[in-house]
Amino acid sequence: MDLLETALEAARAAGQEIVKRLPHERDVHSKGFRDIVTDADLAAQETLASIIHSRFPRHGIWSEEGLKPGSDAEIIWVLDPLDGTTNYAHRYPCFAVSIGVVRGNEPVVGVVYDPQRDQIFCAERGAGAAMNGERLRVSQTDQLIYTLVALDYAREPDLRAEQMVAMTNCSKHIHTFRSLGSAALSLCYVGAGWLDAYFHWTLYPWDVAAGSLILLEAGGAITDVDGSPWNYTIPRCLATNSILHSAFVEAMRA
Ligand code: IPD
Ligand code: CA
Ligand code: CA
Repeated sequence: MDLLETALEAARAAGQEIVKRLPHERDVHSKGFRDIVTDADLAAQETLASIIHSRFPRHGIWSEEGLKPGSDAEIIWVLDPLDGTTNYAHRYPCFAVSIGVVRGNEPVVGVVYDPQRDQIFCAERGAGAAMNGERLRVSQTDQLIYTLVALDYAREPDLRAEQMVAMTNCSKHIHTFRSLGSAALSLCYVGAGWLDAYFHWTLYPWDVAAGSLILLEAGGAITDVDGSPWNYTIPRCLATNSILHSAFVEAMRA
């Protein structure tokens, strides 16, 4: 059983679990400042873990709602069972399941599944990215003034304020902004060419392990917001169509 096949199957199963619960009353708990978890996050995590463990019992699982890999695991499944929990809790229809498979600190497989639109984004390192079987390619936009840019908002007040300065700077140069409330889908949308760029100040590995690989395999670029090198454990990120990457770094500064 290969990694991608299992990731696709697990993402679809978790997506079904999430959608099944959507019409019913939410069980919502706070787990920190501006941070919540629902019954659907936990149920989706259980679905993912049981499929992955049954196929790959020696692999580690690192998942947002509390699963941690053993220190000897060579392959780690980095899971966001429900990316967009705030949307989900409000029944705002934008959320996804995100599965990144990491070997030697590098994502090698990524799957992001939007169960409501039945859109499944995937990539394997070196083999390109696709959505529902169609090859993905970033936009060819080469002037900032034509760009559609997304961001999501840091929870922590000082970091949010810092991000707002970058947003204001950027706003002078671009067409306009969107905010999806799902980092995983936003990265895929840049990969698909539906957005030209996405930035955030405070992401976690499970938000980006899959989406960053999908973006890169679709021809995009990703760095820290100041243009310095990035990997999936770094919280700040700027993801673009690559053509305009350095222009965005500059635009966010002034
Ligand atoms: C959140 C979403 C959101 C981003 C937050 C993330 P969650 O993930 O990706 O877009 O702004 O920083 O934590 O909590 O819904 O899995
Ligand atoms: Ca998330
Ligand atoms: Ca989550």
